[in-house]
Amino acid sequence: MAKDYDRMEDSNRSSNLNIHEVSDLRRRTLIRGGLAAAATGLLAPLAGCATGGAASRSGPLLGFKSVPVSTADAVTVPEGYTAQVLAPWGEAVGLSGEDPAFKFDGSNTAAEQETQLGMHHDGIHFFRHPLTPDSSNAGLLVMNHEYADDGLLHADGMATWTAAKVRKSQAAHGVSVIEVENRGGRWEIVKPSPWARRITASTPMTFGGPAAGHALLQTRADARGMRPLGTLNNCGSGITPWGTYLTCEENFIFYFKGPEQPNAHETRWGLRAGDRIGYRWHEHDERFDASRHPNEPNRFGWVVEIDPNNPSSTPVKRTALGRAAHEGATVALTKSGRAVVYSGEDARFEYIYKFVSRDAVKPGGATANATLLDHGTLYVARFDADGRGRWLPLVHGSGPLTAANGFADQGEVLIKTRQASDLLGATKMDRPEWIDIDKAGWVYCTLTNNSNRGGANQPGVDPANPRANNSMGHIIRWKEDGDFDGLGFAWNHFVLAGDPKLERVDAKGNVKGDAFACPDGLWTDARGVLWIQTDMSTSAMGRGDLQNMGYNAMLAADPTTGEIRRFLTGPAGCEVTGATATPDGRTMFVNIQHPGESPSERSDPAAPRRVSNWPDQRPDGRPRSATVVIRKADGGVIGT
Ligand code: FEO
Ligand code: CA
Ligand code: CA
Ligand code: CA
Repeated sequence: MAKDYDRMEDSNRSSNLNIHEVSDLRRRTLIRGGLAAAATGLLAPLAGCATGGAASRSGPLLGFKSVPVSTADAVTVPEGYTAQVLAPWGEAVGLSGEDPAFKFDGSNTAAEQETQLGMHHDGIHFFRHPLTPDSSNAGLLVMNHEYADDGLLHADGMATWTAAKVRKSQAAHGVSVIEVENRGGRWEIVKPSPWARRITASTPMTFGGPAAGHALLQTRADARGMRPLGTLNNCGSGITPWGTYLTCEENFIFYFKGPEQPNAHETRWGLRAGDRIGYRWHEHDERFDASRHPNEPNRFGWVVEIDPNNPSSTPVKRTALGRAAHEGATVALTKSGRAVVYSGEDARFEYIYKFVSRDAVKPGGATANATLLDHGTLYVARFDADGRGRWLPLVHGSGPLTAANGFADQGEVLIKTRQASDLLGATKMDRPEWIDIDKAGWVYCTLTNNSNRGGANQPGVDPANPRANNSMGHIIRWKEDGDFDGLGFAWNHFVLAGDPKLERVDAKGNVKGDAFACPDGLWTDARGVLWIQTDMSTSAMGRGDLQNMGYNAMLAADPTTGEIRRFLTGPAGCEVTGATATPDGRTMFVNIQHPGESPSERSDPAAPRRVSNWPDQRPDGRPRSATVVIRKADGGVIGT
């Protein structure tokens, strides 16, 4: 569908600023405005938007020598680069100077886990340090902890199952805020830190936007429908131009035990009778029993806004962005200053969304923009066969979204986003994961894989999702008509992932450079490199179409030439997910999730080191998700 790709790129090249460029503009304004402006918090989102030497360097975009595929239980990086483990699961975040240490036998208590980094690191962002915002040697790292492996979390796994274990599992979820500092070439967590924070699956939150307080969000414990507890399955993330972090609730439905006969709404959201994948939280925390608390699942599936500069702030679930198995949330700004939030829903045959704020972003940081994401219009994408696409408004009363079709009001449209999108005829995608935007204004979305595409009684191929049994995944991209709030767009495929050595012709793909499969994490750095992180599932890795791919990896792409080069390979059983960098581009932080994962995705507590012993490699250890610091030995900009 690349018919008019060249023309579009030329004609629109200068029209759309991405968030990095807008941030640079704001930064220049702020520097002129002096330190008073810095106190507004507008400096915070500039993290990751390198300026000066990093951004203006000439020469090829990709300057490193690629690494080969790997099946070593290690992180490998190119020649001239170093990888340092900074923040593994169980390390104290620094709430006090006397936080308990990680116990390698898994015997930390729930209360201790509430002071420590959670499991399964995912989306991450480096925020400029509140006190030294111009420094690239200190800042706040905010990161997601997607889920927990209860086989690894507790000393005896799930052999016994207690309320204390459920509390510990809930405490291993959510978000961590840590203060970090480069001390003589080695990055460390600052402890204690006034900004250190743990947000878990039980932290009190609130709702904002049209569905706040809706009858479908009310429960016995919260009759007003305004006080949800916790955030779950936080996968990808995003940042706002006013300095806050967006964490996304992905596969929340699997935490719930369903009723014997789920209704149509519950069925559409994947709730099934019983405990579908064995989290067993409902056995000791009845709010996860949806047969007793049917509205509790409606209180998850939101994008949650967190202000890392204000550790006592209450996280807000932004209902205007719609309820979905949100993978991530990526913010762009229109020329008029309105926020546009892109988000994919990672589930087979689900959708891609964008929200356009009613109002422009105001100066004054998080306080001035505290309700910006509560007012605006949500759209869902339809990709047409002619290389064009439309954003379809999810607005009550418009088209089929009426009371007669089961939508009493806008709140119900937002809670039942999937049903509304079904009625509008949105395009069913191959598991949309992360979204990011390049310097020319193209918006990219990873479509990680979809083995069901074209199967019996399943949707067949379509122009946007062109492969049956899409085991390798692909990356789609589009450019909006005019500006990011445009209602139409032109789209094409950036790459169909795959392995040229495969016999199955339709899995080979068209990668220019190093082969990869199952793209998931996606992040554009300040120089315009598109970083791609892979998540081949452990049950499929090394087999069939994935037999030549080694372990999961991170690759760098040049969006202009399409060249893709492998930069990092992860340890056994991991996925690589989440990347961010300091403003000078000389330190990159990458998350390694679930090293040691077995095909069942639950570790055997009797043999925790069977698959991996990364990163500690201790004889009595257990694999731990961790943030890794990537530096160049010569101190240069990453990727050059
Ligand atoms: Fe949590 Fe879609 O990966
Ligand atoms: Ca993901
Ligand atoms: Ca995974
Ligand atoms: Ca994934």
